[in-house]
Amino acid sequence: MLKKMKMEKLSPFVLFWLLLLAVASFQVRSLTLTPSINDDVLGLIVFKADIQDPTRKLSSWNEDDDTPCSWNGVRCNPRLNRVTELTLDGFSLSGRIGRGLLRLEFLRKLSLAKNNLSGTISPNLAKLESLRSIDLSENSLSGFIPDDFFKQCGSLKSVSLANNMFSGNIPGSLGSCATLAAIDLSRNRFSGSLPVGIWGLSGLRSLDLSGNMLEGEIPKGVQALSNLRSINLSKNKFSGKVPDEIGSCLLLRSIDFSLNSFSGLVPQTMQKLSLCRYLNLSGNSFVGEVPEWIGEMESLETLDLSMNKFSGQVPDSIGKLKSLKVLNFSANGLNGSLPASMENNVNLLALDFSNNSMTGDLPRWIFNSENKAGRNVDNASSTSSGASFQRIQVLDFSRNLFSGELSFDIRALSSLKMLNLSWNSLVGPVPGTIGELKALDVLDLSQNQLNGSIPMEIGGAYSLKDLRLNANILEGKIPTSIEKCTLLRTLIISQNKLSGPIPVEIGKLSSLENVDLSFNSLTGTLPKQLANLPRLSSFNISHNNLQGELPAGNFFNAISPTAVSGNPLICGSVVNKSCPAVLPKPIVLNPNTTGDSISGELPPNVGHRRIVLSISALIAIGAAAFIVVGVIAITVLNLRVKSSTSRSAAPLTFSSGEEFSRSPTTDANSGKLVMFSGEPDFSTGAHALLNKDCELGRGGFGAVYRTVLQDGRSVAIKKLTVSSLVKSQEEFEREVKKLGKITHPNLVALEGYYWTPSLQLLISEFVSGGSLHKHLHEGSGGNYLSWHDRFRLILGTAKSLAHLHQSNIIHYNIKSSNVLIDASGEPKLGDFGLARLLPMLDRYVLSSKIQSALGYMAPEFACRTVKITEKCDVYGFGVLVMEVVTGKRPVEYMEDDVVVLCDIVRGALEEGRVDECVDGRLQGKFPVEEAIPVMKLGLICTSQVPSNRPDMGEVVKILELIRSPSESQEDSG
Ligand SMILES: *[C@@H]1O[C@H](CO)[C@@H](O)[C@H](O)[C@H]1NC(C)=O
Ligand SMILES: *[C@@H]1O[C@H](CO)[C@@H](O)[C@H](O)[C@H]1NC(C)=O
Ligand SMILES: *[C@@H]1O[C@H](CO)[C@@H](O)[C@H](O)[C@H]1NC(C)=O
Repeated sequence: MLKKMKMEKLSPFVLFWLLLLAVASFQVRSLTLTPSINDDVLGLIVFKADIQDPTRKLSSWNEDDDTPCSWNGVRCNPRLNRVTELTLDGFSLSGRIGRGLLRLEFLRKLSLAKNNLSGTISPNLAKLESLRSIDLSENSLSGFIPDDFFKQCGSLKSVSLANNMFSGNIPGSLGSCATLAAIDLSRNRFSGSLPVGIWGLSGLRSLDLSGNMLEGEIPKGVQALSNLRSINLSKNKFSGKVPDEIGSCLLLRSIDFSLNSFSGLVPQTMQKLSLCRYLNLSGNSFVGEVPEWIGEMESLETLDLSMNKFSGQVPDSIGKLKSLKVLNFSANGLNGSLPASMENNVNLLALDFSNNSMTGDLPRWIFNSENKAGRNVDNASSTSSGASFQRIQVLDFSRNLFSGELSFDIRALSSLKMLNLSWNSLVGPVPGTIGELKALDVLDLSQNQLNGSIPMEIGGAYSLKDLRLNANILEGKIPTSIEKCTLLRTLIISQNKLSGPIPVEIGKLSSLENVDLSFNSLTGTLPKQLANLPRLSSFNISHNNLQGELPAGNFFNAISPTAVSGNPLICGSVVNKSCPAVLPKPIVLNPNTTGDSISGELPPNVGHRRIVLSISALIAIGAAAFIVVGVIAITVLNLRVKSSTSRSAAPLTFSSGEEFSRSPTTDANSGKLVMFSGEPDFSTGAHALLNKDCELGRGGFGAVYRTVLQDGRSVAIKKLTVSSLVKSQEEFEREVKKLGKITHPNLVALEGYYWTPSLQLLISEFVSGGSLHKHLHEGSGGNYLSWHDRFRLILGTAKSLAHLHQSNIIHYNIKSSNVLIDASGEPKLGDFGLARLLPMLDRYVLSSKIQSALGYMAPEFACRTVKITEKCDVYGFGVLVMEVVTGKRPVEYMEDDVVVLCDIVRGALEEGRVDECVDGRLQGKFPVEEAIPVMKLGLICTSQVPSNRPDMGEVVKILELIRSPSESQEDSG
C-alpha cells in the first residue's frame, strides 16, 4: 500500500504520520518475520523528505528498497543489516535535520559536515544509544543547545558542532558525558563561562572551544584532564590568569590560548610540559620576562608569545629548543640583543622579532656564515654549505633598534622567502649577495639609513614579488636588471636620492600593481611601455624631476594628480598643462592681434632640446632607409592582363613569370594590379624596373620611382615602406579606390595600385616639373620662381587642399616636396590621404611617419588631448606659405642652433622688416602689398590652437582677395 503512494507530493508532516502508521504495521509483521530492517529505510526516507538535495546526491535513496545498505552515504553492519554509519559530508544538502534519524537505532557515526543544513538540532540526537560520533560541523545550524542535550549520551566519544551559528551557553550536561574524548564547539556564537563539569571528563583528549564569545576565568580543576592532548581556547574573551594546574596535564601537545584577555605571568608549571609542541599565547596581556624555564619545553616547534607585554631580554635558554620551527616574539617590549645561543635553533622556518626594542648588530649567527666555517654543526640536516639556517623562510626584525651594517653573507639563507629589516637603524650598502636569494618573495629594507646604490645583482632575486627600499639614502640609477624580477607586484623605492631615468625595463614587469618612486631625483620622460602594465593600480612618481607626457593608456589617463605632482616639467591633461609641440618651436604671436591663448608657455630651452632630439631621430631613420636602398630592384613585369571589363576599376590578376619570382622583395607568386582607368596599357611585357636610378624621392610612406609604361607614358610608382602597417587587403583597396576617385587639377591623380601581402605599390600620374622643394631650395643659378609663380603655387595648393577637405580627406603630410609643378607651372599636390592606409590614425605612428615633414607638423600631433582635424593641414599649409615667400626651409639647422621659420617671420613682421625676410632672389621684384598679407595669412594658418586657423575654403577666398586686380585679369586673360 505505502509503496504505491507518491510520497514526494505529501507534506513532510503528513508523511511522517503516515510513516509512523506504516511502521506500526510493519512492527506487527516483524514480530513474526524478519528483524525490522525497514525502520532504517523509513527513518532515512523521512530524513530525506526534510532535505533539499540540489545535486541529487541522495537519488539512490529509494523507498521501494528493502534495505538502505547500498544507498549513497549509508553503511550497515553486515551481520545485522542495520545502518551504522551515515556520512553525507559535502553533499550540498540544505534544509532541516528532521526526526527521521532518531529511528536509526544502530547508528554509530553521524557525519553531516560541510553542508548547508539549518535550523536547530533535535534535543534527543545525542541520546541515541549506539552513537559514537556526531559531526555537524560547517553547516548553518543555529539556536540553543538544550542544557540536558548530553545527559544520556550513551557512548558518545566525539562531537563536533564547529563552524555553525549555535548560541547560548555551552550545555552543562557536557560534563556528564564521561565517554567523550573529543569536543569541538569552535567557531560558533557560544557565550557565558566554561561549565565547571567539563574538567570531569577524564577521558578527554582534545578540547576546542575557539572562536566563540566565552568569557570569565578558567575554572580550577583542569589537572583532572590527565589525558588532554590539545586545548584550543583561542579567540574568546577569557580573562584572568592561566591556572597553575595546566602544568599537570602532562600529555599536552598543543596549547592555543591566543587572542583572549589572559593576564599575569605564564604559569611556571608549564615547564613540565615537555611533550608540548605548540604553544600560542599571542594576543593577550601576559607580563614579565620570557621565562628562563622555557628552555625546558624541549619539544616546542611553535612558540608564539607575540602581542603581549613581555619585557626584558630574550633568555639564553631559547637556544635549547632544538626543534623550534616557528618563533614569534613580535610586538612586545623586549630589549637587548638576541642571545648567541639561538644559533642552535637550526630548524627554524620563521623568526619574528618585529616591533620590539631590540638593539645591537643583526645577529651574526644568522647573517654571516663565515664564523661557522670549519665549525662542526651537530646537525644532520645541514648540508654542503655548512650553513645552519638554510631552511629559514621568514625573517622579520622590523621596527626595532638594530644598528650596524647590513654586510652579511646571505647565501646561507637559501630558502628565505621573506626578509623584513625595515624601521631599524641599519647603515651601509645593500649587499649584492641579495641576488643569491632565489626564493625571496618579499624584501623590505625600508626606513633605515642604507646608502650606496641598489645593487645590480637584485635581478638575481627573480622570485621577488614585493620590494621595498623606501626612506633610505640610496643613490644612483634604478638598475635595469630589475626586469628579471618578472613576478614583481610591489616596488616601493620612494624617499631616496635615486637619479637617472625610469628604466624602460619596468614596463616589462607585467605583474606590477603598486609602484612608488616618489621623492627621488629621477629625470627624463616616462617610458611609453608603462602603459602596457595591465595590473597597475597605483603609480606614484611625485616629487622628482621627470618631464614630458605621461604614457597613453587607461591607467595613466586617470592617474591622480597627486601621484605626479612636484615634477615641474610633466605635462598633459592630468596636470592641467598642455604639452609642448614635439617638433616645431611654438610661435609666439602677439596675443593682441591673434587672440592665440596658449602661446608662449614653453620655456625656450625645452623647445630647443626637443628639436635637437628630433633631428637625431631623423638621422637614425635616414640611415635605416639607406640600407634598404641597395636592395630594391623590383621588377613588375610579365604582368599579364587577363581581362579588363569595368571602366572605373578593373581588378586584374597576374601570375608571375620567372623574372618576377626572382625579385627579392616579393614573396607571393601573384599580385593584384588595378588600374582605375581600366586601360590595358600596363600589359604584356610591361617592364617597370624600380631601381635606385629611377628613384624620384622618398618620404615617410615610401620611395617613389619613375617608370615608363610600354605605351611610352611615364608613371610614378610609390613603393610603400609601411607595408607591415598596412591594413587588410579589402580595407587597403577600399581606401585606395576612394583616393583614386578624387580628381582636381591641382592634385596628382592616383591611377592604380598593385597589391601583394608584402608589397604595395601606388601608381600615379607622373608630373614632370619636379617638386616645389627642389625649385625653392635646390634651384640652380638664375633660374628661380618669380613672385607670380609663387603666388600661383600657393593658390593652387590652397585650392587642392580645399577640395580634399570637401571630400573629407585629410592630407596629413603637407610639405614642399609633395607639391609638384607641372609643365605649365601649375602645382599638383601629391601623397594625400596615405595615413588612411594605416590601421588607425595612431598619433605615434603618424608622427614618426611624417617625421620627414619636420617643421610642418601641427602642434596637436604632440598633444593627445586635442583631436586631429583637417586643421593640421592648414598648419602645414601656413608653413609652406612662409617657405615659398621666404625661400627658406621651415627649420634650418645651423652648427649650433636651430632656426624655426615661423619665428623669423613673426619677428620680422612685428618689427616691420617684412620685406627683409622675403626671398632675397625676389628683392625689388615683388609687390609688398601682396607679400605682407600673404605672410600674415601664413602666420594665422600656423596658430597653435587649431580652431584659430581658417579653413582652406576661407584661405582660397582670402588669397583671391589679396591678388591685385591687374594680376587676376592677367591670369584670366
Ligand atoms: C543555504 O541555505 C540558505 C537557506 O536555508 C540559502 O539562503 C542559502 O543560499 C544556502 N547557501 C548555499 C551555499 O547553498
Ligand atoms: C585554534 O582555533 C583557531 C580558531 O578556530 C584556529 O585558527 C587555530 O588554528 C587553532 N589552533 C590550533 C593549534 O589548531
Ligand atoms: C597687448 O596689449 C596690452 C594692453 O593693450 C599691452 O600692454 C601689451 O604690451 C600688448 N602686447 C604686445 C605683445 O604688444
